[in-house]
Amino acid sequence: MKRLTVPAIQRRKAEGKTDEPLVMLTAYTARQAQLLDPHCDMLLVGDSLGQVIYGLPSTLAVTLDMMIAHGAAVVRGSYHSLVLVDMPFGSYEASPAHAFASASRVMAETGCAAVKLEGGQAMAETIAFLSQRGIPVMAHVGLTPQAVNALGGYGARGKSQEEHAKIMDDARAVAKAGAFAVVLEGVMEDLAVAITDSLDIPVIGIGASAHCDGQVLVAEDMLGMFERTARFVKRYENLADTISGAAERYAAEVRNRSFPTADQVYRPKK
Ligand code: KIV
Ligand code: NA
Repeated sequence: MKRLTVPAIQRRKAEGKTDEPLVMLTAYTARQAQLLDPHCDMLLVGDSLGQVIYGLPSTLAVTLDMMIAHGAAVVRGSYHSLVLVDMPFGSYEASPAHAFASASRVMAETGCAAVKLEGGQAMAETIAFLSQRGIPVMAHVGLTPQAVNALGGYGARGKSQEEHAKIMDDARAVAKAGAFAVVLEGVMEDLAVAITDSLDIPVIGIGASAHCDGQVLVAEDMLGMFERTARFVKRYENLADTISGAAERYAAEVRNRSFPTADQVYRPKK
């Protein structure tokens, strides 16, 4: 199966095929990518890896080198889904040229097909700069976790009329600037519906609406691996219990010497 391309993803909306929503999950490792890849259209190497696998309090301390290491692993572990890598905080905001320097490293060193960055109107110039120079950009508006200190928390956005209008303007600005798609996170549902209907590019929702052109979740969240419980997360599994149960049984068998058995040890052939 050939890997999905940016134009193929865009066509899904352009041709009005949004009755089949785009499927996106995060992936951070090669093995995880192998398992998720056949079921997805896009795999996102999200900077949520800061909290999910590095135990950081937010995404702010995630570095370009971390994103590149995990991005390369996910590309190696997949062959069907389009892989995109998050630009971490501090690697793209200062100027379009700075963003290009960072994003071109991500593209060259991981082999991914696109990058994602947070921000609306303020990032429009940067999105245009990258898009026109061979770097497809997925934008991310609404609740943008890298702005947690400015937003004051991770609560849903778009409750007031001003905020609703601002997020709508952000979404329009990134589409106009040339973003090939946009993630819309943590917004009131009516706003998600309005944005999805007014943009020509795919709108990928997380905590947005079933009406969006696609959905994304953090894989560890939907697998029940991570303790955080945002309203928008649906748990399809409870891997935390599976893993701690296995560790408990292993520990008991080591302690009572019932592991290893003859099956797991090397002995001379008779
Ligand atoms: O970092 C991430 O995982 C994300 C998704 C939640 C969209 O940006
Ligand atoms: Na992110």
